[in-house]
Amino acid sequence: MGEKLTSFFEQYLQKESLFREKSVLLSAYTPDIIPHRDSEIEKVASILAPALKLEKPSNLFIYGTTGTGKTVVTNYVTSKMAEITQKSNNNLKIYTINCKLKKVADTEYRLMADVARTVFNEQIPETGLSTNEVYKIFVKALDREKVLLVMVLDEIDSLVEKIGDEILYNLTRLNSELKKSQLSIIGISNKLDFTDHMDARVKSSLCEEEIQFFKYNAVQILDILKERAGIAFKEGKVTEGVLEKCAAYAATHGDARRAIDLLRVSAEISERKNENVISIESLDEADEKLDTDKYFDAVKNMNKQNMTVLFSLFELCSKNDEKPILSGNAYDSYKLLCLNLKNRVQTQRWFSDVLGELEMQGILHTKIVSHGRYGRTRHLGLGIPPSTAPKIERLLREGLGL
Ligand SMILES: Nc1ncnc2c1ncn2[C@@H]1O[C@H](COP(=O)(O)OP(=O)(O)O)[C@@H](O)[C@H]1O
Ligand SMILES: [Mg+2]
Repeated sequence: MGEKLTSFFEQYLQKESLFREKSVLLSAYTPDIIPHRDSEIEKVASILAPALKLEKPSNLFIYGTTGTGKTVVTNYVTSKMAEITQKSNNNLKIYTINCKLKKVADTEYRLMADVARTVFNEQIPETGLSTNEVYKIFVKALDREKVLLVMVLDEIDSLVEKIGDEILYNLTRLNSELKKSQLSIIGISNKLDFTDHMDARVKSSLCEEEIQFFKYNAVQILDILKERAGIAFKEGKVTEGVLEKCAAYAATHGDARRAIDLLRVSAEISERKNENVISIESLDEADEKLDTDKYFDAVKNMNKQNMTVLFSLFELCSKNDEKPILSGNAYDSYKLLCLNLKNRVQTQRWFSDVLGELEMQGILHTKIVSHGRYGRTRHLGLGIPPSTAPKIERLLREGLGL
């Protein structure tokens, strides 16, 4: 094996790579050129501009589905502002956090401690103080001299899911305690209905200004891809039509991230197959692989209860062929499966909540159909593509011991 492995690596090293600069296709890369977002950039910039004069900008809520450029646009604008501030050396501070990050944005304590540490170099122990005490240290540091702090809370929905919206209430009220300094908040969410369930007072203070980012169409995604591909790959390594098809695939979600991932994975597959260009076939494989990975992860991290619900839907679907599933039938199928598995049957209300969760993950589509005075029914359909479904079904069987 040792010799074989050595020669495998030697051959690998001799192979010419398709990539010139692979890192531009990874998520950490920030592009210099951001096509099709001029008006969003202008809006964010004009809302935040007062901060340069240490006047408080309105709080801003940015929302839109994933991969619509919210993070990249916000970072672009705030980093330009930071550049300008550095030259004039004024007291504008910008703090950015992705609230999905574990260990930092898991509790109000940790988040406030992180702001105080990164922005003001305060020493705050990991534990031991009360949240109130951490706030006191933060407020004291912020008000030491006149400062304008912009706090960017990216993926703010994940923060509120973890710790509730009280923190936003507390943050937006801080300005009334401050004597010299002021604080503005930018919240960014991938969930369109994020503010629907929010306390009305919190909502109105966070959403003083709102900007929605809309899904990209295929033409826009193609422009974004062309920019990236030009840097990422060596000349002539992308087969005619690959970028177009890649854009078309990703346009169903309007998602630039998906497009870029798709291109990178296509190239990796082509390299593994020893092709000297990125082929359309590799692109098709990549599309399937990304779907499989996405649903695989979701299902692997699912609890047994939810797995049971999903599997009962799979069973109904296979009996039902193309027809939509009625939610009443789905619950019956779930009850039957519980009997087989000797599980306790949960209530219809609980079942309905799980369907909601599955829909959020894109695993399920639901549609309310009205029958006039005969009431309404909910139609369900699986969102998992047919090419991936058998693999997911196998995973569910394993998970449930069937
Ligand atoms: N208009 C654009 N121009 C260039 N790259 C873009 C553009 N919009 C999005 N991207 C890229 O697509 C990916 C997803 O964008 P991101 O800003 O993270 O989306 P969101 O925060 O809305 O989920 C990132 O790699 C980003 O660099
Ligand atoms: Mg983002």
